Amino acid sequence: MAQSTHRTALSVRHLVGIKDLTESDIQLILDTASQFKEVINRPIKKVPSLRDVTIANVFFENSTRTRLSFELAEKRLSADVVNFSASGSSVKKGETLLDTVNNILAMKVDMVVMRHSSPGAPHYLTKHIKANVVNAGDGTHEHPTQALLDSFSIREKLGDVAGKRVAIIGDITHSRVALSNIFCLQKQGAEVMVCGPKTLIPKHIEALGVKVGHDVRAALAWCDVANVLRIQLERQQIKYFPSLREYSLYFGISKQMLDDLDRPIVLMHPGPINRGVELTSDAADSSHSIILDQVENGVAVRMAVLYLLAQL
Ligand code: CP
Repeated sequence: MAQSTHRTALSVRHLVGIKDLTESDIQLILDTASQFKEVINRPIKKVPSLRDVTIANVFFENSTRTRLSFELAEKRLSADVVNFSASGSSVKKGETLLDTVNNILAMKVDMVVMRHSSPGAPHYLTKHIKANVVNAGDGTHEHPTQALLDSFSIREKLGDVAGKRVAIIGDITHSRVALSNIFCLQKQGAEVMVCGPKTLIPKHIEALGVKVGHDVRAALAWCDVANVLRIQLERQQIKYFPSLREYSLYFGISKQMLDDLDRPIVLMHPGPINRGVELTSDAADSSHSIILDQVENGVAVRMAVLYLLAQL
């Protein structure tokens, strides 16, 4: 496949985090994804690029978008695909992560796409196995392909990521999407603000070079793009705010709030949405929203990541 950038290879063998990528890696992935987006909009959506490559999707945590998106990307590239989810597996009998993955690899698997609740689990795998590893979300750490598809979607909508102001709004503390987006956006020259209740913003996050805000209307007035994150109740062992109703009152975004701005902004959300909590339904489904475009773009971006890693 012809590349539109002068670089044709990634600087990394695994995609564990955006932190490890160079700006050129990011541009190469996004440019390659543009070509794959064209492919998946053709009547014949399949290319032979990964014929004879076997990929295992190993999911130790729930997923709808990421798991289906990776599987579709792999099938569009003609890879052979096996799927593993921890529920119903021998993990329930006490098998370790490394034993589980080594048993899958013994069946001649070339690449592992893994989601795990423990931050660092994909990095650990890269130290112990030969296959390429792709992080599909590791606990509260990173979700690199989500950040890449978010940047792809901003670029598609606004022409460029450089120079744009992006507000990441909501539960920053428990979010892997936030950290990957901060790295990805900054490497491309965007300005980033995080906004939410003080209890859901990590202390010292300013050290990453982001602005910090606690007023959602001010964040919306400042930004070109609002990337709104889900309240991750499943990761919250203590109460970070009095009630969902109060959260929604102070930090929820409605269509009216978007319509009241003096210029249009783009509304994003990685999903799944808590409708009526971080976004009202009329905001999520409004013309400001590119939430379903993000999902569509996820397939092309994951095709690009898998294709480029398979060349190394
Ligand atoms: N955005 C995202 O990671 O969604 P899933 O948890 O459904 O994969």
